[in-house]
Amino acid sequence: MLKGRDILSALDFEPDDIVDLMGLADRFRAEPRSSAASGRIMTTAFFEPSTRTRLSFTFAMTRLGGDVVDLGPEEVTSRAKGETFEDTIRMLDGYGPDLFVIRHGQPGSAAAAAEIAAAPVINAGDGTNEHPTQALTDLYTLRREYGRLDGLTLAMVGDLKYSRTTSSLSYALSKFPNNKVYYVSPPQLRMRPEVLDNISGRLRYEEVERLEDVKEPLHAVYMTRVQRERFSDLSEYERLKSYYVLTPEVLLRLPGRPIVMHPLPRIAEIPESLDSHPQSRYFQQAQNGMYVRMALIVRVLGLNA
Ligand code: NCD
Repeated sequence: MLKGRDILSALDFEPDDIVDLMGLADRFRAEPRSSAASGRIMTTAFFEPSTRTRLSFTFAMTRLGGDVVDLGPEEVTSRAKGETFEDTIRMLDGYGPDLFVIRHGQPGSAAAAAEIAAAPVINAGDGTNEHPTQALTDLYTLRREYGRLDGLTLAMVGDLKYSRTTSSLSYALSKFPNNKVYYVSPPQLRMRPEVLDNISGRLRYEEVERLEDVKEPLHAVYMTRVQRERFSDLSEYERLKSYYVLTPEVLLRLPGRPIVMHPLPRIAEIPESLDSHPQSRYFQQAQNGMYVRMALIVRVLGLNA
């Protein structure tokens, strides 16, 4: 049961919650209009840039008949005057939103907001830590493709150290049996040890450096952007940003016939020549995010739908 809960980590989802959300997302895909959230207010507070996450949440709430109040960008708020994150959340909470959606550069910031806010908090990305609603989006994309969430083999490729989508997706996949992940990264950008600890014994994995080292047939290749904003040394970013480029030729050499996923934005790692490829799913994946977020809002607010 997700009613009234904060959504901070993909580790918090039970398999039953996930399956229920996927079913509800399917219903919203078929009928993307509802009045279930009529009279409810969601406030979005993004302290880091976002296109998809903020707008898909906004579209989701609007499609449910609810209202959205957005904090707005830094330059038009008191953040520009030095107001703390905590004070901003406390103040917003006083206006009585039914739900918070928060993105912030600091790991643990969503959890900190949840301590302050009376309304449930959904983590829309806390620094390099987690992005649980992207994980739901990714699972939904896999389930639409394969009809199941177990027995899947994925390659997660690129910046595994700083990308929060791969940690959350790993946690979500670890909730279902017989999944396996190849973590493909340069040595400098390997998956964080705490994530490997959290999945250990529940999700099989192998860490490799080259795509050629992936030996088992893949269901999906999950590309990531090298996270420029997390690098203190930009020359290192420049060296690493094109470490993996998934051209149609590279895709053809991967074992199996994997679908291509990416949380977006893509920079150098997926060329436009792949966009119309029959295995590409990244734009559908972004669209899926809206249906999944409609489902999540309904369950967290305990609405009838
Ligand atoms: C991702 C993010 O913000 O973590 N984007 C998203 O939410 N779809 C991935 C990224 O920025 O690379």
